[in-house]
Amino acid sequence: MTNPSNKLLELRDLRVAYGGIQAVKGLNLELREGELVSLIGANGAGKSTTLKAICGLLQPQGGEVRYQGRAIGAQGPWDLVAQGLVMVPEGRGIFARMSIEENLRMGAYLCRDGEVDADIDAVYQRFPRLKERHRQLAGTLSGGEQQMLAMGRALLARPKLLLLDEPTTGLDPQARHLMWERLQQLLQQGKSILLTTHFMDEAERLCDRLLVIDHGRKIAEGTPRELIAAHLEPDVVEVYGGDAQALSTGPLRALASRVEVSGETAFFYTRDAAPLMQALAHEHTLRSLHRPANLEDLFLKLTGRQIREDA
Ligand SMILES: Nc1ncnc2c1ncn2[C@@H]1O[C@H](COP(=O)(O)OP(=O)(O)OP(=O)(O)O)[C@@H](O)[C@H]1O
Ligand SMILES: [Mg+2]
Repeated sequence: MTNPSNKLLELRDLRVAYGGIQAVKGLNLELREGELVSLIGANGAGKSTTLKAICGLLQPQGGEVRYQGRAIGAQGPWDLVAQGLVMVPEGRGIFARMSIEENLRMGAYLCRDGEVDADIDAVYQRFPRLKERHRQLAGTLSGGEQQMLAMGRALLARPKLLLLDEPTTGLDPQARHLMWERLQQLLQQGKSILLTTHFMDEAERLCDRLLVIDHGRKIAEGTPRELIAAHLEPDVVEVYGGDAQALSTGPLRALASRVEVSGETAFFYTRDAAPLMQALAHEHTLRSLHRPANLEDLFLKLTGRQIREDA
């Protein structure tokens, strides 16, 4: 049974470097049993590096990773798999020249002894598409199918804590929904998940808590709702169809607490959108969209709206 007061994973001042490049610069994180925590951050922020250090693929330069109350020390990935800590990497790590079935068998034999058929059947039930194609070479599967295979194979290790690096990248909308449902089921079964994602709707929908990582450091942490309420005005009006830069400094500016420009759109953040919407009703060349502030706004506010050249 899960006990939500049990700390399953703890990072204390984790620091990881590649040669002279500091990729993770003192990260603290706690994850309790049954929780799903998300890491979000721009490309190169240090998310994958953090997951690799947790599962023993990289040795930290400083700080500590504690799993089930003990420092993992110099244990490698297979020692940790045996203790239920399993990662599905960004590149998915499947054997391209083996079939789906061979990948699953190999995965099962690598992490434990005994009969594996029932567990492989359970994977097929979870992902019926894998069963339909069980003889197909993994290297010829589509990106989404490879993701399902990697996930299925990870489950054969009977994980307690799954580290998922961008588990839904490359999945079509239907497959994403299927993956979300499967992740929810895993949580209900008592597993815990630490995942990275670039999809803010995914983070908002799935996670109990999220950490925003920037240049190897945590810059915000909380539930999606808490973070949105703490950092953003509740309403956003996106305005486009004119010179966004000029819009952001023109007469409409006074009707919002904050304005940001991204590409051809000006984003007006406000606690009361009514005056702005009334003013926009007279601007026939402009188009606008009024919506509640969301995690994407938070991400862009905290990590910078412009695409960063230093990322
Ligand atoms: N093997 C490596 N050798 C040298 N530098 C590396 C290596 N792997 C990652 N880095 C660097 O470390 C930093 C963090 O990379 P990381 O892969 O952790 O980012 P990320 O947050 O997962 O990004 P993304 O969203 O693009 O997957 C980047 O600047 C990257 O270039
Ligand atoms: Mg990554």
